[in-house]
Amino acid sequence: PIDDPTAIILYGGTGDLAKRMVLPAIYELFTRGLLPDQFRLIGNGRGDVSAEEFAKHIRDSLTEFSSAPDDDEFAEFAKNVSFAGGGFREDDPGTLLDAIKQLEEELGHKVQLVHYLSLPPVAFEPTTKAIKAHGLNYDTAKAVYEKPYGTSLESFHALDDLVHSAFDEEQIYRIDHFLGKEATQNLYLTRFANRLFGDVWNRRHIAQVQIDVPETLDIADRADFYDATGAMLDMLATHLFQVAAEVALEPPLSMDPEDVQAARESVIAAFRPLDPKEVVLGQYASYLDTEGVEKDSKTETFAAARLWIDTDRWRGVPFLLRTGKMMKESAQKVSLIFKPSDGPLDHIHPDANAIVFDLKGNGAIDIRLTVKKPGPDPLPAESATSLSLANVAPGSMAPYTSLIHDVLSGNRMLFTSSTGLESAFQAFQPMLTDARPQVEIYDDHSWGPPSAKELTGPCGWLLGD
Ligand code: BG6
Repeated sequence: PIDDPTAIILYGGTGDLAKRMVLPAIYELFTRGLLPDQFRLIGNGRGDVSAEEFAKHIRDSLTEFSSAPDDDEFAEFAKNVSFAGGGFREDDPGTLLDAIKQLEEELGHKVQLVHYLSLPPVAFEPTTKAIKAHGLNYDTAKAVYEKPYGTSLESFHALDDLVHSAFDEEQIYRIDHFLGKEATQNLYLTRFANRLFGDVWNRRHIAQVQIDVPETLDIADRADFYDATGAMLDMLATHLFQVAAEVALEPPLSMDPEDVQAARESVIAAFRPLDPKEVVLGQYASYLDTEGVEKDSKTETFAAARLWIDTDRWRGVPFLLRTGKMMKESAQKVSLIFKPSDGPLDHIHPDANAIVFDLKGNGAIDIRLTVKKPGPDPLPAESATSLSLANVAPGSMAPYTSLIHDVLSGNRMLFTSSTGLESAFQAFQPMLTDARPQVEIYDDHSWGPPSAKELTGPCGWLLGD
């Protein structure tokens, strides 16, 4: 239960991800009164950072990536913050064990530990080993892993076996923050609650699904991580696969977290392994000039793929996935595009009727419709109606805030499972062979390599030129 005394140990506490996402999320939970009454945040890292310095770092992070906190409220929060420096390794625990011991003495009992590995993937294994070696994998402990959790089927298995030697599956929370977005959660809620959506959610009515996440961002100061990872692992086989599963899942037995998680994760087993001939990879023109990027890097900063999902519901319906850095616009859209209608108006433009989920920010749901053009003649006109989810009710939470709240309350619905990730890596595996397509260079601020258009068929990409 959420009112257990809890300590989040934030490995990589002063790192980039913590600064942008995790620390603002923890603070948002604090301001909303959603943290346990007895709560501590213990930062961990190699440096020797005092509690005051860590608190200042959090404050600066909030100011930069969220909003400047109220002085009194932040001072209250900062009382619960400390930092255990000196790293944390199997052969050298630094000061973390002492910090936990001191906390337990202070409170007079054991606390629930949440190990939050806000770390680059290469650090997952050594940190897990250290947690196990120093006996911090209590039965009540939880462990949160960022993505990518593994980089191939083989490395996924090695990591997952190790993680399972320290924790039971129920203790493991693999984060994919796209699942925490309000609009992503609406993919199944609106479908199961509304016949208008639910009855057409299949191959009889849907021509194709587009999951399109272009970004105008470059890779900023993340060259080390990004050059070793690439767009397919950073986004496509992780976030976009999970969102595809959220669209494609079969109705769960109930809306209980376990049932929804199982339905989402089990449909990934029906993802047909990607065919390299149906994948386009790109690299933006100025990528090699980025500091920290290998001079002859072949890392893809753009990936588009046609994914097939071999269930009765979706057989023959392409799921078109696209993402890239340094593109012309930023967007996060999931579009279910309808087949042309039967009858006298069956010739209308192929993308005229679609349900579009906008995952960005508070989220929105748009319905693209053809209506009669106002005026004397009965001509069709393309139109759309939009529902901003922010207008439904106040209180929407940022994805990390919502997911960390779920970790604290033990709700695993929006976390990936071992079996689902294994299937995802199986579907991704052909991209790790020699058949992997070459990267095509695309202009900065463009829509990516022109050949990606060919994947879509007559619709084209809903977004773009
Ligand atoms: C992260 C990726 O997981 O998601 C980034 O590592 C990407 O490369 C980001 O920019 C997109 O997230 P958001 O918060 O814009 O939905």
